[in-house]
Amino acid sequence: MDAEVFLTHSSISEGDVQDRTVVVIDVLRACSTIVTALDRGARAVLPVLDMAQAGKLATNLDPDVYRLGGERGGEKIEGYHLGNSPREYTEESVEGRDVILNTTNGTRALAQATEADHLVAACFLNAGQVVNFIQRHTDAVTIVCAGHRNRPSLEDTLCAGLLLDRLWEGEEPYPVTDSAHTAHTLYHTDREDLDTALRGANHAEQLASQGYEEDLDYCFRIDAMSALPYYTENRLRLYENISD
Ligand code: MLT
Repeated sequence: MDAEVFLTHSSISEGDVQDRTVVVIDVLRACSTIVTALDRGARAVLPVLDMAQAGKLATNLDPDVYRLGGERGGEKIEGYHLGNSPREYTEESVEGRDVILNTTNGTRALAQATEADHLVAACFLNAGQVVNFIQRHTDAVTIVCAGHRNRPSLEDTLCAGLLLDRLWEGEEPYPVTDSAHTAHTLYHTDREDLDTALRGANHAEQLASQGYEEDLDYCFRIDAMSALPYYTENRLRLYENISD
């Protein structure tokens, strides 16, 4: 499996994703929220680049069927229905609805990768489904980690390393790109006590200090969900429903 890894989304261009199978990772918390929203029955999640795009989409939708969700600095945006804690995305709040999601890094990374041949959202929760999808569809994957504040983040890099380890069945191929080697090596270093490593990540510590400790317990569960968010027609939907 040929693998290209971007450790932050800030440097990607259209050419990096065109004609590729692209996996966008944002463990804390956008992709964990997207996986949860679809698992809880949301019809679709529309990932946006910024406030303006979110507002524009919202004005064109029936107010009864959409929910506006997202964060700035980790906190709910004023006037939005929901923040970016996956635990807010219950059946009661999202079932049968479209969610417009506006986050600092995760939805921006997704919105920058829409020219991909196939585009899926990944996190620890749905790692197994993502690996199955890649194995069925391609022998060359591009993994885009959302990162945090334009820098690599430990949790996204470790999740990329876990995906690569499964795709490569534990054995790194040669040749390998530097960034894929970095993610895979880091995963090997930390995998014996992954939970402790993840909780020491800068973004995890920030969320804990804001009172979101339970989001860490939630987002760091590996293979806890089977939802595979797949991008088509400007939105992420469950891959199993795409032919509907
Ligand atoms: C982001 O997109 O930057 C994150 O999802 C931020 C957060 O943890 O809410």
